[in-house]
Amino acid sequence: MSSQIIPVECFDYIVFGGNGDLAERKLLPALYHRDLDGQIPPGARIIGASRTPFTDEEYRAFGREALNSFVGEAHRTEEAVERFLSRLYYRQVDARSETGWAELKSLLDEAGQDRIRAFYLAVSPSLFGDLASSVKRHGLAHEKTRIVVEKPVGRDLASAKALNALIGEHFDESQVFRIDHYLGKETVQNLMALRFANMLYEPLWNSAYVDHVQITVAESVGLEGRAGYYDKAGALRDMVQNHILQLVCLVALEPPSAMDADALRDEKLKILRSLKRIDESNIEHLTVRGQYKAGASNGGAVKGYLEDLGEPTSDTETFVAIKAEINNWRWAGVPFYIRTGKRLSERMSEIVVTFRPIPHSIFDNAAGHVQQNQLVMRLQPDEGVKQWLMIKDPGPGGMRLRHVPLDMSFAESFHVRNPDAYERLLMDVIRGNQTLFMRRDEVEAAWEWVDPILKAWDARAVRPQGYTSGTWGPSSSIALIERDGRTWHEPD
Ligand code: BG6
Repeated sequence: MSSQIIPVECFDYIVFGGNGDLAERKLLPALYHRDLDGQIPPGARIIGASRTPFTDEEYRAFGREALNSFVGEAHRTEEAVERFLSRLYYRQVDARSETGWAELKSLLDEAGQDRIRAFYLAVSPSLFGDLASSVKRHGLAHEKTRIVVEKPVGRDLASAKALNALIGEHFDESQVFRIDHYLGKETVQNLMALRFANMLYEPLWNSAYVDHVQITVAESVGLEGRAGYYDKAGALRDMVQNHILQLVCLVALEPPSAMDADALRDEKLKILRSLKRIDESNIEHLTVRGQYKAGASNGGAVKGYLEDLGEPTSDTETFVAIKAEINNWRWAGVPFYIRTGKRLSERMSEIVVTFRPIPHSIFDNAAGHVQQNQLVMRLQPDEGVKQWLMIKDPGPGGMRLRHVPLDMSFAESFHVRNPDAYERLLMDVIRGNQTLFMRRDEVEAAWEWVDPILKAWDARAVRPQGYTSGTWGPSSSIALIERDGRTWHEPD
């Protein structure tokens, strides 16, 4: 099995925040890989822009460093690196003044009016409005223009609406690509294939057969130099409002009428709108907030959150667990337990669908306990899917039952490099395919569910509980699921 490369139309990617962290770690390496695979046509350019004064040559040096740090050595050949660097340009542009816009325009105009222009806003959301309006005002936008917006889109419903309105003043919704990189992950897309390209699962995919769903997005890293942003956000805004709710939607949605952007997003929206409201009346029962303390992680001693932050106090949560429910016919009574946190025991993200116990066992006790079937979709690391089944232990010795996985480890089974989520999404922008991007109403519906949780934490003064770095979070998150007679899935 080999991957297929379909070249895209010629483009200019204009990256505002072109010398920032995201460009360095993700965007330039992802575009390099697409170039290496031959997907990027000759003449396509990547134009970094920010307030920092850089020449094209200095930006190419920045690009070289980014590739050295974030592209594996096995994938770097001199020829490919040089070809990619020759695509890089830079213009010093200030979002809030006239500086640099004419220079950027003349660089873009050199390529004519027919080439796709994708403006990537890898900057603070406070600049989204200024940038969108400047792009328009300075005549940089044309019919084939797209605008890509990084999360977070807002910090609550009101600010998200305001941001969406600002962008909407200048661009049509069909031109706006709100990125959630979790939607570009291979396993997440494979979830769609498993559900809708197989007959096996769909008849069982409901409250009659599914006992509960767990979604864990665990990180071993801490603040990673993002204290300024993170302390104002916290885990609920940073991970749940976007990545985790998107995963909930893809597990729970009804089959869309087609794999097209609006059909899929219409179904996701229905799930977001069916989420049972969490507010002051049930907040203590359904949510857990945590904050990491000093401990051990990645094989060494690590500091606690407050020390990382350099502040004596902060009520920001670095961990959150929630028992969510979906009030619709398919999922009534099936809990979706979600948890995410920093400085946890390991980096591990997975979706686990646990099916109901068999109604009656015909085997005697000596055969062993009949465990519930589980479908485990591993997002990272070691992407793959395992379907856990009961089988007979081979050989003589009577009927002995064992719980074993049917294992589909993507990298091993298909012998392909697992592409970073951004690779797929950056090319989808050029193709104009919005299927894996969040629509305006979706982002707002997600905030409609998150806002009352934030308000209830505040009103009830729910403070984060400390947990030791290198563990699986506060003990109350274990209680959250064990109260229901269930337990968090232990990664194998
Ligand atoms: C980002 C969050 O969106 O996702 C980060 O802002 C988090 O805090 C990151 O670390 C996790 O992404 P991944 O792909 O490493 O799971």
